[in-house]
Amino acid sequence: MTVPIEFTAEYVEAHSAPEEQLYRDFLRCGEPWRSMYANNPWLTPPDLNQPLSSDPAHYWNTTVARKHDYWKNFDLPQATKDIRQLRADLKEWGFCLIEDAMSAEQCKRFLDRLLEQAAGERKAGLRYPTPTGQYINTLINKGDVFGECIEQNPSAVQAGPVIEQLMNETLGAGWICHSFLSNGADPGGYPQGLHIDQGPLLPFMTTQAPALVNTMYIPQDVDEVNGGTLLIPGSHKILIEAGSGGAIGKLPPTINLEARAGTIMVFDGRVLHGTGVNHTDKQRFVATMSNVTSWTRTQENWVISVAPDVLEKASDKLLHRLGLQALTYGATIEGFGLSGRGRVGEAWGSIKQFRQAYDNGTYERVRELSEDSSVDELNKAYTVGIAMQAARDASHSG
Ligand SMILES: [Fe+2]
Repeated sequence: MTVPIEFTAEYVEAHSAPEEQLYRDFLRCGEPWRSMYANNPWLTPPDLNQPLSSDPAHYWNTTVARKHDYWKNFDLPQATKDIRQLRADLKEWGFCLIEDAMSAEQCKRFLDRLLEQAAGERKAGLRYPTPTGQYINTLINKGDVFGECIEQNPSAVQAGPVIEQLMNETLGAGWICHSFLSNGADPGGYPQGLHIDQGPLLPFMTTQAPALVNTMYIPQDVDEVNGGTLLIPGSHKILIEAGSGGAIGKLPPTINLEARAGTIMVFDGRVLHGTGVNHTDKQRFVATMSNVTSWTRTQENWVISVAPDVLEKASDKLLHRLGLQALTYGATIEGFGLSGRGRVGEAWGSIKQFRQAYDNGTYERVRELSEDSSVDELNKAYTVGIAMQAARDASHSG
């Protein structure tokens, strides 16, 4: 049997000149990021191999809005319980601050569990390092309080009904939780590069509602000293206007978020933001829960449904195609795969090993830990620990 010539790889290549390819200019133009950096070189992220510069020109060397030469003249969002004001702030500035969203008791329950877990994971050798600080991933497994937050249950978050309503309005009914993890800003850490959390959906940027909305749980006071989140207020509008193929001109400066413990910041997935620099000698934690539109997932849940024998013999390419290769924005397991590029065969983000451990009854999840956890608990053969070590070994050998 001869294959029709039109279907051969050589023929396809010969008839796929750049100018003939669909959407090529649009998808490959690198915009709006290219123009954003060209017109705003101060937004360039720091070199992680160099000491952090204190030059005020850099985006991470800023302050809170009320002390900021530029922003102090604007009516930026203040923490409030008024849903009408919250709506107006979210639309105009891309973020709003729910005052006392967690009561003092709720806030303490949340923070205590977070700090205990952070200490336990460090002691168990599971500290999840990032350039900004320690992350605590997959909070759902690390305390009842976190599942209650994912439900917006007033038992854990007294402003739950307000959050539910704002999510229904922005994402539409049926929205789901995309992730819930805690971001640490550690003393001596670097700032995060400014980014939008809806980045992967950039080609589908619309002029209307976002496809991702974040809720940031703030269990301790944050400001310009301890690494309050860096934000460009109103930047979602500039991003929306530029779209994925358009250009961005000069942007207004960043601020550090200033908020009291118990505040929840709701922010549009298209606002430029990133973790700030912690100038104190104590870790600073916030926790971000992203929520996304109901359809943001694969129709078939392959990670569960693919049969063990099919999985065993699957090529790297097939594993990737089925969604078993995690990347920053998708399919991470207990944080494994965050910062991965999601490329075929990439060791960091290969989640087949988790599914196989699950099939074998050996999947050991990291559960509640603290410094007082037993030696047995601290030394368990955690699947994510094994996966992280395997990925490190692969990167050293390759
Ligand atoms: Fe983010």
